[in-house]
Amino acid sequence: AGPCDIYASGNTPCVAAHGTTRALYNSYSGRLYQVQRGSDNAKQDISALSAGGVANAAAQDSFCSGTTCVITTIYDQSGRNNHLTPAPPGGAAKGPQSGGYDNPASAIGAPVTLNGQKAYGVFISPGTGYRNDATSGIATGDAAEGMYAVLDGTHYNGGCCFDYGNAETSNTDTGSGHMEAIYYGTCTIWGTGSGNGPWVMADLENGLFSGYNLKQNTADPTQSSRFVTAAVKGEPNQWAIRGGNSASGGLSTYYSGTRPNAAGYNPMHKEGAIILGIGGDNSISGQGTFYEGVMTSGYPTDAIENSVQANVVAAKYAVTSLTSGPAVNVGSKVSFHLTTPGYTDRYLAHNGSSVITSIVSSSSPSSARGSASFTVRTGLGYSGCVSFESVDTPGSFIRHYDFVLELNANDGSQSFAEDATFCPQAGLSGTGNTIRAWGYPTRFFRHYYNVGYVASEGGPEAFDSTTSFNNDVTFLVQASLA
Ligand code: AHR
Ligand code: AHR
Ligand code: AHR
Repeated sequence: AGPCDIYASGNTPCVAAHGTTRALYNSYSGRLYQVQRGSDNAKQDISALSAGGVANAAAQDSFCSGTTCVITTIYDQSGRNNHLTPAPPGGAAKGPQSGGYDNPASAIGAPVTLNGQKAYGVFISPGTGYRNDATSGIATGDAAEGMYAVLDGTHYNGGCCFDYGNAETSNTDTGSGHMEAIYYGTCTIWGTGSGNGPWVMADLENGLFSGYNLKQNTADPTQSSRFVTAAVKGEPNQWAIRGGNSASGGLSTYYSGTRPNAAGYNPMHKEGAIILGIGGDNSISGQGTFYEGVMTSGYPTDAIENSVQANVVAAKYAVTSLTSGPAVNVGSKVSFHLTTPGYTDRYLAHNGSSVITSIVSSSSPSSARGSASFTVRTGLGYSGCVSFESVDTPGSFIRHYDFVLELNANDGSQSFAEDATFCPQAGLSGTGNTIRAWGYPTRFFRHYYNVGYVASEGGPEAFDSTTSFNNDVTFLVQASLA
C-alpha cells in the first residue's frame, strides 16, 4: 500500500497527493511532475516507473541532458486536479518571474534514492514557491484535515516561510486562522521549540505555532535527521503537530490539544488553497526541500499516521551525490578556464572582492596567476559539494551575493557558508564542468560581459540571458595557474 491507501483505510482519504519522488497510491502509475528544459522550452511529464513505484528519474536525466530543467508542475495524484504550479504574486511579495510569479524549482537540486532508485525532490530556494488557489476537496472553515510531508532536515532557514499545506485563496493575509500548514525551519518571529531548531511547527496565519502558547513549546524538539517526516492536523477545537525521522523509527507527538491561546484560531477559517515553499501571503524568504506530502479530508488517527510513517521508512530515502562530470577534488588547487569562443584566453579571477574574467597564462606575473587560483575545500554549507578559497587571499572564498560572484572573507554565518557552496556537474556544453550554486540550483557560475555571476538560463536578470548560456557556464577546471 501507499500512504494514500493507508489514509483511505482510516476514512481520512487524501484530497491532494504530491510526490516528485514516488507514487503515493499502490495503484498510481501516472504523471508525478512536469519539467521544462532551457534549450527549447519543451516540457515533459515524469511518471512513476511502475504502479506505486519510484519516479522515472532516468527519463528526466535524458530529457534534460546537456541543458537546464525546472519543475513546472507537481501533479496531484488524488484525481482531484490539485496540481501545484509556480505561485502568483501575493500581499507580502511578488516573485522574481514575469507577472510577479515565483520561481520554479530546479529539477536537479535535490537528488535522492528510494530503495536504491534515483529520484528528485523539490529544492525550494528563497523566491521559489508553488500554489493552487482553486482546489477541490481541501478543508475549509473549521473542517477537519491532516497532512504530512517528507523534507530535508538539513535544508532550512529562518525566513518566512517554508510551508506545505492549507492557505488563503487570495494570496494575501486575510487574518489569524486562515491557514493550516506544515512549517519547517528556524524562524523565531513567532513560536519556537527547544534548542536552536529547525522545528516542525504549524503556520496558522499571523503566527508559526509549536503548541498552545504563542511562544515556546519545549516539547517540540530540534529536528536534525537528514530526512524529516512532519505532520500537522486540525479539527474543531483540536489540533496536533507530530514529527520523526523519515529513515527510521516512528512519529512523536510534539503537541496535541486545543487551539492556540490567541484570538482568531478557534474556530478556524481555513480557505483551502495549497501552498508549497511560501507563506500564505506569498512571503518568499523561506528555503527547504520537499520530497512528498499529502493533505487529507478528515482528522487522521495517530495510528494511521504511524502506518504512513512506516511506509515512508520502508521507501528507504537515502542521500546520493550532488556532483557529476570531471572530479573537482577537495585539497586540489584549480583555475577556471573559460570555454566561450573568443574568450578562451581568459580565466575567472578576482580583483579585490570582484570576480571577473582575466587574460592570464602560465607566463603571467605571479600576482595575476594568484588572482585566478583557488583551493578546493569541502563545501562550507554542504559537505557533498565544494567551496573555493582564494590562493592569494586565504580565508576568502568565492560566494554569490544578489547572484553576483564576489570574493569575501568567511564570516562564519549560515548564509555565507551556503552562498559559498557549489556543486560541480558535467559541463552543459559537453566538456569540462558547470558549477552549480548549492542553495540556488537553477543557477551556475557564469561570465557575462566578463563579470562573474550565478545565472539561470532565461531567468529574470540581464545576466540570465539565454545567448551563449551553455558556453558561458562551462569551464575547464584545470590545475591552478599559481
Ligand atoms: O503566519 C506566518 C506568516 O505570516 C504567513 O505564512 C504569512 O501569510 C504571514 O506573513
Ligand atoms: O546571491 C543570492 C542571495 O543574495 C544570497 O543567498 C544572499 O546572501 C544575498 O541576499
Ligand atoms: O563574458 C563575456 C561575454 O559577455 C559572454 O560570453 C556573453 O554572454 C556576454 O556578451
